[in-house]
Amino acid sequence: MEQDNYIFFQDIYKSFSDKPVLQGLNLAIERGETLVILGRSGCGKSVTLKILLGLLYPDSGRVFLDGEEITGMSEKKLVEVRKKIGMLFQGSALFDSLTVGENVAFALAEHSDKTAAEIDEIVSNNLKFVEMEGTANLMPSELSGGMKKRVALARAMAYQPDILLYDEPTTGLDPITATTINALIRKTQREYGVTSIVVTHELDSGFSVADRAAVMENGRILEIGTIDAIKKSTHEFVRTFLAGPK
Ligand SMILES: Nc1ncnc2c1ncn2[C@@H]1O[C@H](COP(=O)(O)OP(=O)(O)O)[C@@H](O)[C@H]1O
Ligand SMILES: [Mg+2]
Repeated sequence: MEQDNYIFFQDIYKSFSDKPVLQGLNLAIERGETLVILGRSGCGKSVTLKILLGLLYPDSGRVFLDGEEITGMSEKKLVEVRKKIGMLFQGSALFDSLTVGENVAFALAEHSDKTAAEIDEIVSNNLKFVEMEGTANLMPSELSGGMKKRVALARAMAYQPDILLYDEPTTGLDPITATTINALIRKTQREYGVTSIVVTHELDSGFSVADRAAVMENGRILEIGTIDAIKKSTHEFVRTFLAGPK
């Protein structure tokens, strides 16, 4: 089946043991946009990202990326697909025993045929892009939470991905640091033309970083639209969710 959307989740179901998590998820993402998925903890946001990466498999439904179905793909083909996707995991997930530079270089050193000099150049360019120049020899333990996020972004960009996935990029950061991380997500979209999916339970952050928002509950998208449209939604759950408590 042909699919016009850049990324498309079609009627996805996923349970763990007997617990239903995704329950008929339908979601289309356009090329070049930043879409935020907003939803309470446990509603299935991280599972959705992991399904796109092929780290989890849906029980039913199909996922398309750039016209290709990725559900049911061989592991070998998935490795190639994953190179198009950079992921910022919740909590940054840097390797504590590696330096900043080694963290950024990690995937390239493992999975590419680039020379050491080429890798050094990518590391240095990416650290510069995230405004962390000159930190290649530091250890993650020497970094603040915001700096770790920057390094995680530099690492996620190692393959110059077409798509960036951000799992709770500002959770646990103070408001000023959160604003700088959101600005960096925007700069990445602008300068590299990447398609981005941000998942968060933080409304203000989500609204400030994205072009469109999708509100998720119980493993389904309740509503999707421009930030303005979502803010004006008449959907009962969406209104309750936007009214907070966060
Ligand atoms: N690998 C797993 N095994 C079992 N349960 C899981 C697994 N991953 C997620 N879950 C469960 O699925 C639900 C949705 O998880 P998740 O997508 O991480 O939520 P969130 O929206 O907070 O990111 C949660 O109840 C979580 O406990
Ligand atoms: Mg999560």
